[in-house]
Amino acid sequence: LRILFVTSEMAPFSKTGGLGDVSGALPRQLLAAGEDVRVLVPWYGRPDGARLQHRADIYLPFSGEKLAILSHSEHPEWLFLRHPDFERAGTPYQNPAGEDWPDNAQRFARLCRAAVEIAQGRVAELFWQADLVHVNDWQTGLVPYLLDLEARVGAARPRTLLTIHNLAYQGRFAPTVLEPLHLPAADFHPEGTELYGSFSFLKAGLVYADHLSTVSPTYAQEIQRPEFGMGLDGLLRARSHALSGILNGIDAEHWNPAADPYLPAHYSADDLQGKAICKARLQQELGLFPDPGVPVLGMISRLVEQKGSDLVLALAPELLKRGLQLVILGSGERALEQRLRELGSMHRGQMAARIGFDEALSHRIEAGADIFLMPSRFEPCGLNQMYSLRYGTVPIVHETGGLADTVVDVDGSVTRPGNGFVFRPAQVDALRTAILRAERYFHQPALWRELQARGMGEDHSWRSAALAYRDLYGSIV
Ligand code: ADP
Ligand code: GLC
Repeated sequence: LRILFVTSEMAPFSKTGGLGDVSGALPRQLLAAGEDVRVLVPWYGRPDGARLQHRADIYLPFSGEKLAILSHSEHPEWLFLRHPDFERAGTPYQNPAGEDWPDNAQRFARLCRAAVEIAQGRVAELFWQADLVHVNDWQTGLVPYLLDLEARVGAARPRTLLTIHNLAYQGRFAPTVLEPLHLPAADFHPEGTELYGSFSFLKAGLVYADHLSTVSPTYAQEIQRPEFGMGLDGLLRARSHALSGILNGIDAEHWNPAADPYLPAHYSADDLQGKAICKARLQQELGLFPDPGVPVLGMISRLVEQKGSDLVLALAPELLKRGLQLVILGSGERALEQRLRELGSMHRGQMAARIGFDEALSHRIEAGADIFLMPSRFEPCGLNQMYSLRYGTVPIVHETGGLADTVVDVDGSVTRPGNGFVFRPAQVDALRTAILRAERYFHQPALWRELQARGMGEDHSWRSAALAYRDLYGSIV
């Protein structure tokens, strides 16, 4: 099968969250399994530009706009879309002040149009055309719709799969974008591309893709209910026969405590000495008291309502009073960033808040912390709990989405051995209880080591997930 994987971010070139990690790992795993995959991603101008070479030009329909396709010298399957509007300071979606780029509809429509040209084999220099286009989240949600429009006028088209990594981001724009995007007004109604008065890229994908998937089985069920459906649960229930849930994997090479180049020492389940060194060095780096006997709680996250960082903030004073140490790395909503900074500077030695996006530090926290906090209100999959398991850092998670699918409470069941702590509901009291339970385990070294070893022994690599996608592609085509 020839598969075009279209995404708005791909690690290590671009990453704002888990989508970047998934796009960096899944296509690679599929290639290794012998699939004929091409990845299309915008080029945001950072790093490794030297290894990119010009492959082709694309002329978009309607606008006639010319975009360049670059490919990577070592990985010719990675295609980067180049246009000046992608190369800006800030994130792929926001300016440095944290506001969405006002022309995001135009920017990502360009990505979608280019994907269609490649998928349909109209970029002659590539000598390639797709049997299936796998798109991800709202930024690529127009692709299934554009292909459906071509089929309506008689063109053959590849099959389409839309993976929902997060239903909360819907790519909603005023209907006035239809005209400049050259999209028909006739489909702008609640059975088509309209979502409560807005034109939605995500909804266009959900309505017109041949198949839908989410990044965990539990999230696939949750989003069919009003509490998690973000206004789209009715549509998702109606399409439930075409909706699957495949749990993400992790890049087990990039996230490997035995060889991670970002770490001051290495370790494995048989010998955790290196982890103690990582902890000591993390405490030193962040100005925390150098005490090996105090549990260090870590958190790495986008600072948004979804992630429940406000719950951790609310609990922080009493946790610090108990002597625990808290390390938080995150960026996002300015108000949360500010509160974290303030709390951190009030509790130097016990709490470190690092605001910003720092890949290297994120690895050092995964290795140096004892316990990892993920009190997400919802979590389509979540990757950090799986990184934590691999790094012997015991996760505490809210029972939702992919967190519920990967973390089993140690006290929860006699038949399923636990690897962490699970709580519900996503409220301060339940989180407190879970943290206190974890603290008690932490002070019983034999039990704690057993818990760490269990998580470290699990296989969360992409192997089985990639096979599941392969089967799914086969069944769609
Ligand atoms: P989401 O995609 O919702 O943000 P995931 O758990 O799937 O959540 O993935 C988040 C990814 O982004 C992880 O690799 C995590 O380590 C990384 N990450 C999040 N915030 C930061 C940050 N401030 N600095 C470095 N890495 C971060
Ligand atoms: C989204 C979700 C996260 C998931 C990631 C990768 O950003 O919020 O839970 O792990 O996508 O699929």
